[in-house]
Amino acid sequence: MSTSSSVLVTGGAGYIGSHTVIELLNSNQNVVIIDNLYNSSFEAVRRIETITGKKVTFYKVDILDKKALLQVFNQHPEISSVIHFAGLKAVGESTKIPLDYYHNNITGTITLLQAMKEVGIKNIVFSSSATVYGDPPVIPIPETSPIGSTNPYGRTKQFIESIIRDLCTANPDWNAALLRYFNPAGAHPSGILGENPLGVPNNLMPFLSQVAIGKREYLSVFGQDYPTRDGTAIRDYIHVVDLAKGHLAALKKLDDQPGCVEYNLGTGQGSTVLEMVQAFSKAVGRDLPYKIMDRRPGDVTNLTANPTKANTELDWKAEIDLDTTCASLWNWQSKNPNGLEDCPGDAPPELVIKYI
Ligand code: UD1
Repeated sequence: MSTSSSVLVTGGAGYIGSHTVIELLNSNQNVVIIDNLYNSSFEAVRRIETITGKKVTFYKVDILDKKALLQVFNQHPEISSVIHFAGLKAVGESTKIPLDYYHNNITGTITLLQAMKEVGIKNIVFSSSATVYGDPPVIPIPETSPIGSTNPYGRTKQFIESIIRDLCTANPDWNAALLRYFNPAGAHPSGILGENPLGVPNNLMPFLSQVAIGKREYLSVFGQDYPTRDGTAIRDYIHVVDLAKGHLAALKKLDDQPGCVEYNLGTGQGSTVLEMVQAFSKAVGRDLPYKIMDRRPGDVTNLTANPTKANTELDWKAEIDLDTTCASLWNWQSKNPNGLEDCPGDAPPELVIKYI
C-alpha cells in the first residue's frame, strides 16, 4: 500500500477496531474512522490520539447511511481499502431481535459494499467470527471445517462472508480477507484503552474483571459437564493487540490480489473457563469467587483455532501469553473501573454526518 493512501475503519471506536487503528497508526498508515457510536464512545478516539500522539480523522456515520458513506469517500479519495468492524455483536440479543441484527449487519454491509463499488474501492478486510463454525467436528479447527452457526448473530457473519465471496467471484478485481476471530481478550498495554461493555457484560473476561473490582459478586460458570479436562468449556483467548496486528497482515495480503480468503485468527491454545478464572485471579492477586451453574444455551464444548493458514500465508502469529493478557486486562479495569462511562460519549457535532 502506498504511504499516501488511507484505510477506512468502520467501527473504529469499538474494542477490536480501536486497537487495530492504533496498530495502523503506529505503522504509519493513514486512517479514517467511521462509527455510529451506538455501542462505543468517542472518548476511545481521544485515547487513540493520546496513545499514538497522532490526530485521528473521525466521522460519526452509520454504515446504513449510503449518502454519508459516499460523502466520506468523496472527501477522502485516497481511501484504498476498508477494514469493516461495525456491527451488532451480542448473541443473546440477536435471538430476541433478529431483524435488527440482519438489518444492521447484513444490509449495513451491503450498503458499505455498494458505496465502495460506486467509488471503485475493491479491498476489504471483514470481521468474522469463529462462531461461524457452530459445533465443529475437529479441534483445532481448520478454515475448511463445515460452516453452520447456531444463532442469528453468527448467521449474519456467515451470510456476510457468502455475500463478499459472491462479490469477489463476480468481480475478480475485488480482494477480501474474512477474518474469523476466536476470543479476543486483554487491553492496551498503556492501561487507558480496553473493552468497554455497556451494561452487564455477556462475555467471560469482561464479566470476570467486573467481579475483580467488586461490581459483580461472583462469576457464574456456565456448565461443568462438558467433555473437557475440568468439565468447563474451552475457548482460544487471543490478546486484542495480537488480533489487531492480524488485520495489518491481512491488509498486506490484499496487495498480492488473493481474491477472497478466510483466516482463523487465534492462538491455537485452548483454555477452559476455570483455567481462565485461575489465570485472571493470578493477575489480580487473589482468588476470584465463582459458582457453577447450568450450561448457557447455544454454547459449544470447544472452539480452538488451527491458525496455521494465517501463520504461513499472512506471516502472522499470536505472540502474547495468557498471563500478560490477563495482566493487561486487570491494568485497564483497575485504572478505569467504569470503563469509558464517565467520559463524554458523543462526537462533536462537526464530526457528525447523517442523512437517514
Ligand atoms: C461469544 C459468542 C461469539 C462471539 C463472542 C464475542 C456465543 C455462543 N458465542 O463467544 O459468537 O463472537 O462471544 O462477542 O455466545 N462463560 C461463563 N460465564 C460467563 C460468561 C461466559 O462461564 O459469565 C463461559 C461461556 O459459557 C463460554 C466461555 O465462558 O464457555 C466464553 O464465553 P464468552 O466470553 O461469552 O465467549 P463465547 O461464548 O466463546
